[in-house]
Amino acid sequence: MAINKLIILKNKEEAARRAAEIFVEAIQRKPNLVLGLPTGKTFVPIYREIVKLCGKKKISFAGVKTFNLDEYFGLKFGDKRSFRYYMNRNFFSKAGMGEGKIFMLNGDVKDFRRECLDYEREIRKAGGIDLLFLGIGLNGHIGFNEPGSSFASRTRRVKLTESTRKSNAVGVPGYALTMGIGTILGARKIVLVATGRNKSLVVRKIINGEITTRVPASALRRHKNTTVILDKDAASGLKNNKKI
Ligand code: GLP
Repeated sequence: MAINKLIILKNKEEAARRAAEIFVEAIQRKPNLVLGLPTGKTFVPIYREIVKLCGKKKISFAGVKTFNLDEYFGLKFGDKRSFRYYMNRNFFSKAGMGEGKIFMLNGDVKDFRRECLDYEREIRKAGGIDLLFLGIGLNGHIGFNEPGSSFASRTRRVKLTESTRKSNAVGVPGYALTMGIGTILGARKIVLVATGRNKSLVVRKIINGEITTRVPASALRRHKNTTVILDKDAASGLKNNKKI
């Protein structure tokens, strides 16, 4: 079992350009594409490249739907620490995406169970996710599926680890809503991007280590169509690239 395709590039700028190309080519092939989108620092330059490339190639988002992976639970709508704020600022406003096509978990609700079930239903109604982009947390989390999450998990409320809260924005809540690992694995194609030396250890674990719930991203090796894009720094801990 292996990751389908491993792409190692010189630096994070090249990684961002490659991820943007995959994004744009997918919309060109299927104008009503259903996308899964992440947040995080890794994706700031990627969204910048995507906006640039979409402008250059005159890509229309008219038919595209997006589903974000996760959101903090308990922040007011529009809070600057929320992923909605991040997405509006880095992508939606710049790409000119219409509200009706943007799906994000709302962390400002009382009935989080209903919110999560509705989200799963919306994904199904859209026909499933065609292409899902992922970053990775230092402990191997994808979305907000922390170590120990079941590979069959669906969208739900989760408790965040202290280390995740520390490495994200200052003063973020202790809980979040996230697509489950099962939901993520349901995407037809997955592209994971990791850059920087601080990701090298976790990258090595997911690619060279065991498939285990202790490292949530190792679940991607059970998926049929996953591409991993790394810069040299993130790839620096890999044992033997040729074997992958
Ligand atoms: C958060 C998000 C993840 C993201 C991770 C890595 O925890 N929930 O989806 O992959 O951050 O973020 P960064 O790119 O800032 O390292």
